[in-house]
Amino acid sequence: PDAPVVVAIDGPAGSGKSSVSKAVARRLGYRYLDTGAWYRALALHTLDADVDPEDSAAVIGSLDAFGGAFTVSLDPDVTAFTLGDRDVTDEIRGPRVTDVVSAVARVPEVRAWINETFRSLIADVDRPGIVVEGRDITTVVAPDAQARILLTASEAARMARRSAEFESHPAGDVAEQLQRRDRADSRVVDFMNAADGVTTVDSTHIDFDETVDAVVRVTESLTARNSHGSR
Ligand code: CDP
Ligand code: CDP
Repeated sequence: PDAPVVVAIDGPAGSGKSSVSKAVARRLGYRYLDTGAWYRALALHTLDADVDPEDSAAVIGSLDAFGGAFTVSLDPDVTAFTLGDRDVTDEIRGPRVTDVVSAVARVPEVRAWINETFRSLIADVDRPGIVVEGRDITTVVAPDAQARILLTASEAARMARRSAEFESHPAGDVAEQLQRRDRADSRVVDFMNAADGVTTVDSTHIDFDETVDAVVRVTESLTARNSHGSR
């Protein structure tokens, strides 16, 4: 029988992972998992609890409480993240969280705990499948995914897109924060180079719809090839 398809997508900040993955999931009727939202929500949880995000032991100590409080929607049509009974969907995208998220994400115990959660969410998914998006999905979380894609774009294109999204913030601040975060994150996982078997989609010179088309095409050709191979 056909197993649910897992589409793994990695890439740097502003490459279009979230928006493109969501649209691809909608198009294919798949579920959608935004792994960055988990790291962001954990960062917010530590800030709320007056835990210093740089204090690894304290962050690790807060994981169980976080796990009990955080809920996500896997429906690409419903973007909703709650912490306790609070909707934190917008707050986790804000500069206060963005500033400290890399610090909690570099703690190995945090990554191990969070990755176990992702793997069990993925294992529970029904057909037809799920799109999972982040930094280490193609390499660590779901290296066996039927489709593994690295979504890239030039730094200039990524900064321009991010600045357009955060119109109320000075463009220089957004760009500086993005560069600093990519540098910090790159020390923990490599999401700038495609691992073996990973297909690169470069969105620098194509628009949003063309990027979605490209990812759908790659996914369809990889899943078709894999199912032929197993016959
Ligand atoms: O949307 P954007 O690319 O700005 O970031 P995100 O995907 O929401 O991820 C936020 C942060 O979570 C990143 O800067 C990383 O520090 C961390 N992250 C990670 O370490 N591994 C993942 N699989 C996803 C996110
Ligand atoms: O999740 P990640 O940080 O990788 O990127 P995103 O938040 O999904 O995308 C950043 C912005 O780039 C969004 O506003 C997308 O609509 C836009 N985008 C674009 O203008 N052209 C593309 N080819 C892909 C994304």
